[in-house]
Amino acid sequence: MSIPAGDGVARSLDPDNWDEFTRTSHNALDLMIDFLRGVAEGPVWRQAPPEVQARFDAPLPHDGQDFSAVIDIFRSSILPYGTGNLHPLFMGWVHGAGTPYGMIAEMLAAGLNANCGGRNHIGIEVERQIARWAAEMFGYPAGASGLFVTGTSMATFLGLLVARDAAVGHEVRRGGLKSDPQLVLYASSEAHGCVPQAADLAGIGSAHLRLVPVAANGGIDVDRLRIAIRSDRDAGHRPFLVVGTAGTVNTGAFDDLDALADVAHAEGLWFHVDGALGALAILSPTFRPRLKGLERSHSIAFDFHKWAHVPYDAGFLLVRDPNLHRATFAHPVPYLARAPRGLGSGGTWPRDLGPDLSRGFRALKAWMTIRTLGADRIGAAIDRCCAVARHLEGLLAASSSFVPAAPVHLNIVCFGLRGRREEALLEPIVMDLQERGIAAPSMTVLDGKPVIRAAIVNHRSEERHMDLFVRELEASRQRLAGTAC
Ligand SMILES: Cc1ncc(COP(=O)(O)O)c(C=O)c1O
Repeated sequence: MSIPAGDGVARSLDPDNWDEFTRTSHNALDLMIDFLRGVAEGPVWRQAPPEVQARFDAPLPHDGQDFSAVIDIFRSSILPYGTGNLHPLFMGWVHGAGTPYGMIAEMLAAGLNANCGGRNHIGIEVERQIARWAAEMFGYPAGASGLFVTGTSMATFLGLLVARDAAVGHEVRRGGLKSDPQLVLYASSEAHGCVPQAADLAGIGSAHLRLVPVAANGGIDVDRLRIAIRSDRDAGHRPFLVVGTAGTVNTGAFDDLDALADVAHAEGLWFHVDGALGALAILSPTFRPRLKGLERSHSIAFDFHKWAHVPYDAGFLLVRDPNLHRATFAHPVPYLARAPRGLGSGGTWPRDLGPDLSRGFRALKAWMTIRTLGADRIGAAIDRCCAVARHLEGLLAASSSFVPAAPVHLNIVCFGLRGRREEALLEPIVMDLQERGIAAPSMTVLDGKPVIRAAIVNHRSEERHMDLFVRELEASRQRLAGTAC
């Protein structure tokens, strides 16, 4: 079927000159490939100067600008001032490092501009494939349901809503939550802040989250968990959920997931696992045994954007019972009813599994990354990160200035200074390293004391980078100690 030519008056938003667009776009692609190739050579991070920041405080442009000029602004004013998480000496917080394959996948997904809230198109199938792969990885039934979300914080919130509905029934969606008996939930004192936040957002209230102390191995003290549950029941409350952590944010410690599954099953509680950091360690034969019990959980929140290096954002919620998952969120409206055939057909759409209706094609970048690299290579990169972390731990143990502050369970090394009086230097050292563009660790607090935290998440980090890091730590310390005297 041919469509008659337009009258030339109406103006679409496509380029006026496709050849010019092609040239500019190929240059932009080259720019980013060169950037990725040379990422280890640049500074880890640099502060955007005021004149660059001022570029993004401009009035709304009513007239357009040549695309190549806009790309030039990106080159000069955005590209050099990123977070730095691609660099092998970025160790702050817990950031994935991305891959060139993920970058291209993002471009392809943007080209398709698929809305993956629903409808009968291939993007939905790709997302279902990822759910099936996740189920296979974690030992869930093949029919488990999965959903891409921004990150583990959102996945934990949605998982908590499924757990809440499982406990009190789906009528809660219409009638609201009654506080009698009071729902209570449990996690370890080392659980991530997204857990209390999820309790807040779900209307349960973070005051009803019991933070159970951890044992010496950094995992939740399961005996104390049992005691807490008993005492809540005695007080007339209603325990409904236990959140296990696979890789705590501070030290990478694992809860004993098998023991938590025992408690949850014996007590009739929902068992959710925050696997943001450590769930993907299941791809490493070395760390897989630590995740025993994960396969018995009811839901898992984790991030493809961390240790699978899928570009941000790519959080995921996996729920064992697809019917419960759907019944927690599905909200039938006539304009989204399923047709028997055609584009409006299909069974469960992603919009039935979470609150988002319009959503991008996150599944493509996850699928392309995993399809290209293979799960084993991603697992090997996870192993390597942990070996690099142990190397750093060894260097710190041998240092006369710095000292490891916690056991290295996985890939996170927390450390302080040997002299107690030097503690005040820790944050200035971190800021100095960041501002010099040498390395980007971050800070946290362990047992009430500030420590430097290096999370080795990056597949580009090697032992030689840690050698340099420790030398530069010492250089910063000496300079700052000198200044302080
Ligand atoms: C253990 C843990 N849980 C949850 C989160 C939150 O994940 P996200 O940033 O993807 O929301 C993080 C982030 O680092 C984490 O380390």
